Amino acid sequence: MSNALKEQITLCQNRVEKALNARLPQANILPQRLHQAMRYSTLDGGKRMRPVLTYSTGKALGLEMDSLDGIACAVEFIHVYSLIHDDLPAMDDDNLRRGKATNHIAFDEATAILTGDALQALAFETLANDLTIKATAKQRLQMITALTKASGSQGMVGGQAIDLNSVGKQISLPELENMHIHKTGALIRASVNIAALAKSDLAIDTAQKLDRYAKCIGLSFQVKDDILDEESDTATLGKTQGKDQNHNKPTYPNLLGLAKAKQKALELHEQAIASLDNFGDEANLLRDLSLYIIQRNH
Ligand code: IPE
Ligand code: IPE
Ligand code: MG
Ligand code: MG
Ligand code: MG
Repeated sequence: MSNALKEQITLCQNRVEKALNARLPQANILPQRLHQAMRYSTLDGGKRMRPVLTYSTGKALGLEMDSLDGIACAVEFIHVYSLIHDDLPAMDDDNLRRGKATNHIAFDEATAILTGDALQALAFETLANDLTIKATAKQRLQMITALTKASGSQGMVGGQAIDLNSVGKQISLPELENMHIHKTGALIRASVNIAALAKSDLAIDTAQKLDRYAKCIGLSFQVKDDILDEESDTATLGKTQGKDQNHNKPTYPNLLGLAKAKQKALELHEQAIASLDNFGDEANLLRDLSLYIIQRNH
């Protein structure tokens, strides 16, 4: 990883941690157990890759970091909600997340469901009225629309439905790609595109290039997640390794073998980089992030 990227990741992680903390209800406010559970799963953990992408897109477009905190938090709130529900017994039935007990183990199933629900609402409240977002009402509406689409039945939730429906089945490569693009790709794509919506005079052409980049890394992120599930270990991942195979989930390594899955991730990285051809050095962090996504070890 380049030094510039390492610095940027740390900077964004620290920044978003503070921003999330400030936007989450305090644990002593009623209903206390729900607020504790929201804080437990959101704070102090995770790579914060989606917020890092939001801030780095802002950098590529010359936006101030201060104006991106609300967007970074909204995307991370949706992501954390998706993880809490993904870990429930009715879904992947996991007991370890970000190196600690999953929400339904640390609290209880009903609380975990409600925690996800509340984080989802908080995400949209944040986009709707966060004061750090310097945008017109029209831009805010575009941001909210983008996040609803990325989260809903034609985005992340739709992808999760396909995932659950594919357990134990032999699905084709295009079907697998479609599942990954939705369950993980959509929100990663939104973390770039919503930052771009914060730029008032953004050219359509620039928006399209960023979207193409974001679509590629959204898919490569889940291809790499599948690879890590197969070849990493539980301590490094902070979640139980080998769950996909145990649960008979269709994955890239499962369908293509590890070598071809890695080749696919590399091709997606190259496509992502090519999409940024017209950008100069201001997009170097985005280029480095694409490589990091396929080279990371957790
Ligand atoms: C894991 O996401 C779930 C997927 C969508 C692949 P991350 O790998 O970004 O998890 P955290 O946020 O770092 O814990
Ligand atoms: C999760 O995919 C995607 C979402 C949470 C939307 P996985 O089920 O592969 O994620 P992990 O491996 O549990 O983090
Ligand atoms: Mg899952
Ligand atoms: Mg899972
Ligand atoms: Mg996984």
